[in-house]
Amino acid sequence: MDRSSDLTEAHNEHCRLVETTPMQRVERRVIGSDHGATSYTTRDQADMIARLIGLSPGDTLLDVGSGAGWPGIYLAASTGARVVLSDIPFEGLGVASLRLRRDEVDGHVVAASGDSLPFADQSFDAVTSSDVLC
Ligand SMILES: C[S@@+](CC[C@H](N)C(=O)[O-])C[C@H]1O[C@@H](n2cnc3c(N)ncnc32)[C@H](O)[C@@H]1O
Repeated sequence: MDRSSDLTEAHNEHCRLVETTPMQRVERRVIGSDHGATSYTTRDQADMIARLIGLSPGDTLLDVGSGAGWPGIYLAASTGARVVLSDIPFEGLGVASLRLRRDEVDGHVVAASGDSLPFADQSFDAVTSSDVLC
């Protein structure tokens, strides 16, 4: 297996674990949320991002490299915005899709690479990306 496959499998494994009770407990304790983070973005930082981009009810947010849905789902839930979550691996998108439905957050997932997004210009009011350019 090459390094890229190793990283993808490690990420998939993390996405499978984020919905387990111990991981949610750790996540709540460390970053203040249980939205399936696979990054170090804290809830305080997510709140700051929402303020900086001026996210409001009715806005549409694109979260690129959304993993299992953090922080895009939280940002939509806490501001009343709608969210489109985009990433490449299906594992994370599947977890995010279930969480959107469970929390009744307005949004959906799209499998796409950030360097070739299948959206028309002016489709979004704001774009976020947490811990993707790593
Ligand atoms: C460290 S995780 C962060 C996930 C999530 N944003 C978070 O904060 O928990 C990095 C994410 O970037 C995604 N990613 C990497 N390269 C990408 C690309 N070219 N297009 C879209 N997503 C990408 C990975 O699949 C992974 O879900």
